[in-house]
Amino acid sequence: MLGQRLVEQGWRRAHHVIPVDLPSFDLGNPKEAAAIIRAEAPEAVIHTAALTDVDACESRSDEAMAINGLALGPLAKAAHEMGAYFLAIGTDYVFDGEKGEPYTVDDQPNPQTVYGGSKLLGESLALEAGGAVARLSWLFGPGGGNFVKTMAGLLSEGKDLKVVDDQIGRPTFTRDAAAAIMDLTEARAPGIWHISNGGWTSWYGFACAIAEGMGLSADEQIRPCSTKEYPRPAARPADSRLDTSLLDKQFSALQAWPDALTQYMEEEGWLVK
Ligand SMILES: NC(=O)c1ccc[n+]([C@@H]2O[C@H](COP(=O)([O-])OP(=O)(O)OC[C@H]3O[C@@H](n4cnc5c(N)ncnc54)[C@H](OP(=O)(O)O)[C@@H]3O)[C@@H](O)[C@H]2O)c1
Repeated sequence: MLGQRLVEQGWRRAHHVIPVDLPSFDLGNPKEAAAIIRAEAPEAVIHTAALTDVDACESRSDEAMAINGLALGPLAKAAHEMGAYFLAIGTDYVFDGEKGEPYTVDDQPNPQTVYGGSKLLGESLALEAGGAVARLSWLFGPGGGNFVKTMAGLLSEGKDLKVVDDQIGRPTFTRDAAAAIMDLTEARAPGIWHISNGGWTSWYGFACAIAEGMGLSADEQIRPCSTKEYPRPAARPADSRLDTSLLDKQFSALQAWPDALTQYMEEEGWLVK
């Protein structure tokens, strides 16, 4: 989902983009993947690939640790040796969600899931090898499974839904995230960065905004529920809002999430004007 938007963003800015993917670029074989970096000798590597099924990671922990974690060491090292900037894409799920206010880049991660732990391992190995990290949250956009797509499908089928209202975060449009990631990459920005669209909401609030965009009655089709009523294999953080002030000050703030949602829904033909 994000990788495709990054390729698009790179071409738009007249960069020579080399998209790599399975089966030739396999994180299950990091030595060979690192050899591809050495052979291509790029100026920058933006590492988006991951096992992103948060629940599946709970039962596939060895694989998650290898793909999302350990693989990043050799990749970041290869990039560093070639003088290339290496940016690892991270997640808000490295935090436990207990802080009660947005997490800054200096806050201590405390992942509560295998996915979060594996992504944190990847971050540390990337940083150790001289790379940088851009954490994102609640991604949506064309070209992949995401909450907006799922909700739009269920709502258009007339389904009545219960959606959790005690988990909050910052929805983020892949297109906006890709522009910010390209800004960081062009500047070879070091360290950790947080990227999210402006504002925040709960999954319930997000679902209601999607229903409203589709011209449907959120009150009739969607009811709020608690996390306890909807248990998942991987426990989600209650409040994983990222503090993006570093990006906002040094680059530019992303548009508010409802505006980004409108753009995405318009693009997919789901928006009823
Ligand atoms: N989605 C979110 O809400 C969210 C939030 C915060 C951060 N992030 C992070 O943002 C990044 C992009 O997320 P996304 O939602 O765009 O992910 P996505 O659509 O699931 O894409 C991940 C890509 O990684 C590939 N991949 C999986 N295993 C691989 C392997 N062994 N070797 C090489 N490639 C492999 C997948 O290929 P296949 O499709 O063929 O398996 C897929 O193309 C990830 O690092 C994710 O952790 C996502």
